[in-house]
Amino acid sequence: MFPILLVALSSFVVCNAIPLSLQVSRRNLVVHESREDAPSGFALSTPASPDSVLSLRLALVQSDTDGLISALNDVANFVTPSAATVSAVVDWLTENELNATVLSPVGDWLSLDIPVNKANELLAANYSVYVNAQTGLQTIRTLSYSIPEDLQEHLALVHPTVTFPSNKQHAPIFLASPKSVTRDVQDLVNATAVCGYGLAAWMNPGCLQYLYNIPISPATNPLNKIAVTGYDEEYAQQADLEKFLADYRPNISSTAKFTLESVEGGVNPQNSSQAGSEANLDTQYVVGLATNVSTQFISVGGDFFDALLDTANFLAGVDAPPYVLSTSYGDNEDAISQRLAINICNAYAQLGARGISVLFSSGDGGVSGNKNSECTSFVPTFPSGCPYITSVGATTQLPTEIGADFSSGGFSNYWGTPSYQTTAVSAYLDKLGSNNTGLFNASGRAYPDVSAYGTNFEIYNEGNLLITSGTSCSTPTFASIVALLNDQLTTAGKSPLGFLNPLLYSNLSSSLTDIVDGNNLACSNGTTGFYATEGWDPVTGLGTPNFTALATALGL
Ligand SMILES: *[C@@H]1O[C@H](CO)[C@@H](O)[C@H](O)[C@H]1NC(C)=O
Ligand SMILES: *[C@@H]1O[C@H](CO)[C@@H](O)[C@H](O)[C@H]1NC(C)=O
Ligand SMILES: *[C@@H]1O[C@H](CO)[C@@H](O)[C@H](O)[C@H]1NC(C)=O
Ligand SMILES: *[C@@H]1O[C@H](CO)[C@@H](O)[C@H](O)[C@H]1NC(C)=O
Ligand SMILES: *[C@@H]1O[C@H](CO)[C@@H](O)[C@H](O)[C@H]1NC(C)=O
Ligand SMILES: *[C@@H]1O[C@H](CO)[C@@H](O)[C@H](O)[C@H]1NC(C)=O
Ligand SMILES: *[C@@H]1O[C@H](CO)[C@@H](O)[C@H](O)[C@H]1NC(C)=O
Ligand SMILES: *[C@@H]1O[C@H](CO)[C@@H](O)[C@H](O)[C@H]1NC(C)=O
Ligand SMILES: *[C@@H]1O[C@H](CO)[C@@H](O)[C@H](O)[C@H]1NC(C)=O
Ligand SMILES: *[C@@H]1O[C@H](CO)[C@@H](O)[C@H](O)[C@H]1NC(C)=O
Ligand SMILES: *[C@@H]1O[C@H](CO)[C@@H](O)[C@H](O)[C@H]1NC(C)=O
Repeated sequence: MFPILLVALSSFVVCNAIPLSLQVSRRNLVVHESREDAPSGFALSTPASPDSVLSLRLALVQSDTDGLISALNDVANFVTPSAATVSAVVDWLTENELNATVLSPVGDWLSLDIPVNKANELLAANYSVYVNAQTGLQTIRTLSYSIPEDLQEHLALVHPTVTFPSNKQHAPIFLASPKSVTRDVQDLVNATAVCGYGLAAWMNPGCLQYLYNIPISPATNPLNKIAVTGYDEEYAQQADLEKFLADYRPNISSTAKFTLESVEGGVNPQNSSQAGSEANLDTQYVVGLATNVSTQFISVGGDFFDALLDTANFLAGVDAPPYVLSTSYGDNEDAISQRLAINICNAYAQLGARGISVLFSSGDGGVSGNKNSECTSFVPTFPSGCPYITSVGATTQLPTEIGADFSSGGFSNYWGTPSYQTTAVSAYLDKLGSNNTGLFNASGRAYPDVSAYGTNFEIYNEGNLLITSGTSCSTPTFASIVALLNDQLTTAGKSPLGFLNPLLYSNLSSSLTDIVDGNNLACSNGTTGFYATEGWDPVTGLGTPNFTALATALGL
């Protein structure tokens, strides 16, 4: 919470004597967001109890998001709501005897507690209890809500309303039971020994260092930080990290650690039984590859979509943010309302404007998003469709990498093609011809942007060695390379890379290794999807990293 804005908004901290808590002001309401049905998995149960209290969040219209995107600097000028917007929303709340607090550094998010019956009146909503058949999760949501007509230009969205809690499908895929791994992990020169070959190649820091020319010397700039997010009660264990480093990075201190940042009640209990394989994978590969870059584990409480927003608002306000943010979680784009998706995406543009490179996994369901669906149309993932993040796909097989069949890629239905990728994407669409016509949105933002190896990663979890695969593996790998480039850049007196995509598609594209084989045919009939091609493609993006070549292209 941010006291400066509380002062500015104090005019609506009202203590009106009229005890008509149910009465809401009558204005001409217009539908603001709606959906036909609850998302798959959720079934309507009962009306929500009228006196259950909802914690609503209101997103105020930001003053100039176009300016934010074109300038990507001096963020506050663009996203701080105008005085007219603040007073319009505040007047409406005051009329209804509601008291809000400010959630974000620039005041574009407010929060208030309100009982269901009053929220139903205020927003012409029908908050009901929905139950997820698979998980048993109960949630209070509405399929539609309205806001006063005269607030349309001021109130971007209200949440939670039509966006349902995310299904927890983010954990990496475990393909194999643990193998006993016996080899000299210190041997970085002999790829056969370190990596193995073929589809069964084992992956570990030594092999990735070999494959992508990643330096093993320690980073030195104390300002250079990398952050890894932890959602869905995934907890990273220092003890597992210590075992991992002892095995795979014998030359660095096995007591190298990550620090904990706690957001919205996020915790990180160090009890082996609460180890999270995703959190362990992410921290082990970042600490193991981004040698001596200080690593933060940002543990965020709450539902996934709320947690994404809370993370972005936290990093938008923190004094010395990490230069790189790596996130290996995502969901189907249609699981989140377009208004909320755009709001979160603009928050990533704010982070880019602060010099933070924001990387997300593209997803592990090929063209079918996070679910192995029939694919009557391909399912894009969120937030990979957001143009202001870098989406990372996955490759497999050595010595010549190919796209991994689970590597999600495709085209957003929420965002159009950003200018930085139009040349690369139209070249691909020309090659594609009529393949997959009608199954994807050719005018959408295309992803992934890049890729990295993503199968058979060795990790420690609850003290045991496991082998795991997914874009959850490739994302911390690529993010670590960005962190090491930033170390050399900042040591040379240059700026960290910040928002990567315009650079990736121009100056850096020839410093990535183009992946030209493989596909992501992951619909349930197994015959439809995209193929990797020469140049950008929706399986492996522009290709895999090559540290030496990237450093050279950046003048290092
Ligand atoms: C509104 O919130 C402020 C700050 O949390 C609190 O001091 C005040 O009592 C609240 N007023 C009402 C009417 O709830
Ligand atoms: C509101 O939702 C309840 C279930 O919670 C349903 O029975 C009722 O028909 C809905 N009302 C309207 C007006 O849609
Ligand atoms: C460990 O350090 C030695 C000596 O500097 C070096 O030859 C070797 O390649 C390093 N091995 C690893 C795994 O970093
Ligand atoms: C590389 O490692 C493999 C497997 O351990 C071994 O058979 C081979 O002799 C090694 N090659 C060299 C040049 O050391
Ligand atoms: C590791 O980085 C810190 C700054 O964060 C630096 O002071 C230290 O010298 C580095 N360690 C090595 C071995 O270079
Ligand atoms: C760790 O978790 C287990 C199971 O939840 C519990 O029984 C045990 O007491 C915990 N240990 C510690 C040290 O908290
Ligand atoms: C597989 O599903 C896709 C998408 O619905 C469809 O276009 C294609 O014809 C199907 N293939 C087969 C062999 O059924
Ligand atoms: C396709 O993408 C465009 C650009 O983002 C969007 O305007 C359009 O609504 C999308 N079409 C569908 C069917 O989602
Ligand atoms: C078009 O689809 C065929 C298989 O149906 C595939 O062999 C070919 O590579 C595809 N073309 C492109 C550019 O993906
Ligand atoms: C990586 O880049 C270096 C320097 O440009 C080049 O010599 C090397 O062949 C590249 N490696 C791969 C796998 O392309
Ligand atoms: C990218 O290329 C342009 C034009 O060649 C150049 O002006 C710019 O400095 C390069 N950017 C970086 C970060 O190297």
